[in-house]
Amino acid sequence: MIMILVFCFICINSVKVEAQSATLIASEVEALKEIATQIGKNNWNFSVDPCSDDKSWVTPKSSVQFKNNVTCICFLSDGAWHVTTISLRGQDLAGVLPPSIAKLPYLINVDFSRNYLNGSIPREWASTKLQYL
Ligand SMILES: *[C@@H]1O[C@H](CO)[C@@H](O)[C@H](O)[C@H]1NC(C)=O
Ligand SMILES: *[C@@H]1O[C@H](CO)[C@@H](O)[C@H](O)[C@H]1NC(C)=O
Ligand SMILES: *[C@@H]1O[C@H](CO)[C@@H](O)[C@H](O)[C@H]1NC(C)=O
Repeated sequence: MIMILVFCFICINSVKVEAQSATLIASEVEALKEIATQIGKNNWNFSVDPCSDDKSWVTPKSSVQFKNNVTCICFLSDGAWHVTTISLRGQDLAGVLPPSIAKLPYLINVDFSRNYLNGSIPREWASTKLQYL
């Protein structure tokens, strides 16, 4: 019970400080950097935390033609933030289907539609927990 309360505090505290400090777990920040290279996404701002709702990570405008959205969740089990959704619809991305999404263990929802990503489905994707692609 005490453990749960401690992690709960860390999560809640993260919400408060996320504007100033990185909160996404480091391994997933690295995975996002790899994904950016693989898909040719050059306007994610890694100077700010990917879970911060900063404008490069979440654009409020979304439509059938366009989405730009990375969302995260903080789990009480480990007190860390994890990426759950990546929506990059209609951004003219011209890279390959990114093998490194397999390095985001809590990713369940991906939208790469209306881009020019090519290549075959990466073998690595077999290990993801994706529910929606
Ligand atoms: C990235 O974020 C930092 C910190 O908010 C800001 O100073 C910088 O101008 C941003 N870079 C771009 C390219 O928007
Ligand atoms: C971002 O994605 C989440 C999860 O799919 C969704 O609930 C939210 O409305 C989206 N936000 C924007 C601005 O598209
Ligand atoms: C993917 O597109 C790039 C250029 O846009 C091209 O160089 C590459 O050969 C393509 N790969 C496949 C597997 O079609």
